[in-house]
Amino acid sequence: MTLGAKGGEKIKADGSLRSVAIIMDGNGRWAKKRLLPRTAGHKKGAGIIENVLNIFKEKGINCVTLYAFSTENWKRPKIEVDTIMNLIYKYLDEVVIKRIKEDENFCMRFLGDKNALPEKLRDKCIEVEEMAKDRAFVCNLALNYGGRDEIVRAAAAVAEKGLPMTEENISAHLYTAGTPEPDLIIRTGGNYRISNFLLWQSAYSEYVFIDTLWPDFGLKDIDFCIKEFYSRKRRFGGLDKEDDL
Ligand code: IPE
Ligand code: IPE
Ligand code: MG
Repeated sequence: MTLGAKGGEKIKADGSLRSVAIIMDGNGRWAKKRLLPRTAGHKKGAGIIENVLNIFKEKGINCVTLYAFSTENWKRPKIEVDTIMNLIYKYLDEVVIKRIKEDENFCMRFLGDKNALPEKLRDKCIEVEEMAKDRAFVCNLALNYGGRDEIVRAAAAVAEKGLPMTEENISAHLYTAGTPEPDLIIRTGGNYRISNFLLWQSAYSEYVFIDTLWPDFGLKDIDFCIKEFYSRKRRFGGLDKEDDL
C-alpha cells in the first residue's frame, strides 16, 4: 500500500503497523467548548469507540489498546468518576457483548486492577473476557490502569514465584502478557505526555500527538497517524543499512 506523498516522497505501508494504543484525551475540553458539562464529553467519547475500532480493523491492525481510565483518574469528582464507570458499563453491556456474539473475529480484554471497580462493572468485564479470547482482532481496554502499578505488580509476582528477575519474566506478568507491544501510540487532545500509560511496553513505540479532541477523532486523524508512523525509521537502537558505512 502506498500512502501518498510527504515532502514529495512516497510512503510505503509495509504492514509493520500491527498494534496501536490510544490515550483518548480531550473529552472535558470538547464539552467545555460547547458549554456542556464534562460528562457530555465522556458520553460522546464513549460513543465513537466502536467506529474507531472498525476503522483500525479495516486497515488490518489487529490489536488496539484504549486508555479509558487511569489509576490517577480516581482523583476526579465522584460525579465524573461515576458517570465514566456507568458509560463503560453501558458500552460493554449494550455494544461489546452483542459484538462478541456476532463477530467471531472480535474479543476484548482489560488491563488494570478490576478489584477497585464498582462490582457491577467488574462482573461485566469478567463476563466479556470469558466470552471469547485470542480472536483475530483484540481490543484491550485499560481501566483503572497505571503503568507503574503494572510493573510493580509484575515484579512482585515474579519474585513471589521465585523466578529470575528478567525482562521476559516481567513482560510475562504484565496485564498485557501475550499481546504485542504497541508499534504506535496516539495521544489526542494536544498534550505531549504519557500519563502513566504502557510505560514498559512503549520502550520502542512511535508516538504521535495530535490536537484533535477525542470525541472528534475519526478516519482523517487515523489516516494522518498511520502515514506519520510509516514516515518514520525505527532503528531499535541499531543502524539503518544506509548508515552502516
Ligand atoms: C479523557 O478526557 C478521558 C479520561 C481521562 C477518563 P479528559 O476527561 O481527560 O478530557 P480533558 O483532558 O479534561 O479535556
Ligand atoms: C490520560 O488522560 C488518561 C486517559 C486518557 C484515560 P488524563 O487527562 O488523565 O491525563 P493528564 O492528567 O492530563 O496527564
Ligand atoms: Mg485529560
